[in-house]
Amino acid sequence: MDTAVNTKLPKCDYEQIIFGNEFAYRGAYFRELLNLNEIRQGGEFIPSECRPEFSTAIIIPYRHRKDQLEAFIVYIHNFMRQQQIHYRIFLVEQNDEKPFNRAKLLNIGAVHAIKEKFPCLIFHDVDLFPMNVGNLYVCTAQPRHMPVYIDKYHFNVVYKDYFGGCVAMRTETFQIINGMSNLFFGWGGEDDNCFDRVKSKGFKICRFGPNYSKYMMLPHKKEIPIVHLKALMENAAKQFHTDGLNSLNYTEKIVILQPFYTHIRVEL
Ligand code: BGC
Repeated sequence: MDTAVNTKLPKCDYEQIIFGNEFAYRGAYFRELLNLNEIRQGGEFIPSECRPEFSTAIIIPYRHRKDQLEAFIVYIHNFMRQQQIHYRIFLVEQNDEKPFNRAKLLNIGAVHAIKEKFPCLIFHDVDLFPMNVGNLYVCTAQPRHMPVYIDKYHFNVVYKDYFGGCVAMRTETFQIINGMSNLFFGWGGEDDNCFDRVKSKGFKICRFGPNYSKYMMLPHKKEIPIVHLKALMENAAKQFHTDGLNSLNYTEKIVILQPFYTHIRVEL
């Protein structure tokens, strides 16, 4: 696949996209994938009219949410192509019966994105939909927590240190913090652990204001938290240097370049 960017093109103009900050959350974005032949096999997009300044890997941890996935893939391609960014979508599917391990799937997605030389990683849950086009899907110097104002929580901040749902982080930062923990099988805590990793290395969390960080969340049934979550969190907090990218092991079943995403199926 030819992924080279045409250097003769003018630079993409991000000011217009940011200041325009168009409301994106419209019915049409859900219903159909517009101009789908712009998207390359494996879910990659390179603007054809201008030279992009940013390359972003979108990494989605996934299992058993087919309807949400279909809606998300349609929406996110329609949304992101407005932003004139080079991006590719990596879907990491847990293909075993163990409790879902979101953070470990994100580590696996990061390993693939690093291999493909993406400098910016966005870890994205499948049930979150960004509402404004000015919310550029790029990495700031500090790790960015993206869904700050979510409709499900009446557009209030969930809690001060909340770091869940969707995070943008430079690849080098993710490597510095040794990725995420591999220990969190089941619901809860892995995002708080990631927040602590980021802080322990001296980074600060960045958040955009309400005009740029509103999200819509699709409904799903309430997850049951990990039993003894507090103890696990305390234990995991002592292991940033030995638990993460440097201890990641898993079985890769298959990698398929689907028409709209790169599908990585794994057993943990
Ligand atoms: C959990 C997080 C979760 C948050 C919001 C916290 O209690 O530890 O993992 O993202 O609640 O639901």
